[in-house]
Amino acid sequence: MTDQAPTPYAGPERVLSGVQPTGDLHLGNYLGALVKFSRLQHEIPTFIFVADMHAITAWQEPAKLKQQVREIAAAYLATGLDPKVATIFAQSAVPEHAELAWVFNCVARLGWLDRMTQFKDKAGKHKERESVGLYTYPVLQAADILAYKATKVPVGDDQKQHLELTRDIAQKFNNDFSAPGFFPLPEPLTQGPGARVMSLRDGTAKMSKSDPSDNSRINLTDDADAIAQKVRKARTDADPLPETVAGLEGRAEAKNLVAIYAALSGKPEADVLTEYAGQGFGAFKPRLADLAVSVMGPIGGEMRRLLADPGEIDRVLTDGAVRARELAAPTVAEVKKLVGFWAG
Ligand code: TRP
Repeated sequence: MTDQAPTPYAGPERVLSGVQPTGDLHLGNYLGALVKFSRLQHEIPTFIFVADMHAITAWQEPAKLKQQVREIAAAYLATGLDPKVATIFAQSAVPEHAELAWVFNCVARLGWLDRMTQFKDKAGKHKERESVGLYTYPVLQAADILAYKATKVPVGDDQKQHLELTRDIAQKFNNDFSAPGFFPLPEPLTQGPGARVMSLRDGTAKMSKSDPSDNSRINLTDDADAIAQKVRKARTDADPLPETVAGLEGRAEAKNLVAIYAALSGKPEADVLTEYAGQGFGAFKPRLADLAVSVMGPIGGEMRRLLADPGEIDRVLTDGAVRARELAAPTVAEVKKLVGFWAG
C-alpha cells in the first residue's frame, strides 16, 4: 500500500515569531528579524512575542527578567511593529503555550531531540548539567507556533532545524489523533537582504550579542556617536570597491559593509556598487556611518523614550496577551478533546 499524502491544512496564513529577552539586540537582529516583522504585519496577521519562558532554560536573574522583556517589547515598537496591527505579547502571559508544550513533549521522540544541533552547541561537553528545559526548548517553540496555527515563521538560519521539528510534531499529532490537517506544517522565512549580518571585526563570524567585543556590533541602544565610531573602526581591506557583486568574493569584510549599506538603504547591492565603484573605504565608511546613524539613531532614541516610562509598553503587552489568548485558547481546548483529557 502506498502512503496517502497527508490532508493539507486549509486555514488562514499567520505569521509568528519571538525573541528571547536575554541580551541587547543589535543590527543583525534588526535587519534579520525586526524589519521583517514590521513589513509582514501589513500582509498577514502577525503575532510577535517575547520568549521569557525560553529565557529561563538558562539562569535569569528574577529581578531583571521583567525589564528584559520590556526592552525587547520596546525594540519591537521602536522598529515599527504597530500594536493596532500586530499582536505583541509576553509568552508567559499566555498559559496555553505551556499546556500545549506538555502534549507535544509526549508527541516528540527522544531521537528527534537528540539531533538538535543548537542544544549540542549550547550544552557543550556537559549536557548533564543543563536544564531539562534547554533540552525540550524546541518542543516549547513548536507549541508557540502551533498554538496559533502559524504558517510562516520569520527566523534566522539557525532556527531551520527547530522548524523541521515543529513540522514533524504537527504531522505526528495530526496522524496520532486522527485529525488530518488540524495543525499546519509551518515554514521558516529566512531570506531577505539582512539575512546574515556579520561582525564588524570579523567578516566571517555572525554579528552576535555574545561576542566579547562591543565594537563587533551596533546595538539598538547605541547613540549616534557610538554608531559612527563603530562603523569607522570596522575592519576592511585596502582595495577600492569593485564594480560588481561578484568582485566582492573573498573579501568578507567589504562584502559585509556593502550588504549592510544595501539593507539599510533598501537598495540592491549592485546599485550600491555602481555608486561607489573605485572608491576606497576612506570615502565609503563616512557615508555608511551617516546612513547607519540616520536609520538606527532614531530607533535607540525611541527605545529610550519608551523605557523611561514603561506604562505604554506594559499596556501593549497586557492587551496583546488578551488577543493572543483569544486565538490560542480554542485551539488548545480542541487539542485537549482530541487527546481525551478529563479536563477540557
Ligand atoms: N528559538 C528562537 C531564537 O532563539 C526564539 C523563539 C522561541 C522563536 N519560540 C519561537 C522563534 C517561535 C520563532 C517562533 O531565535
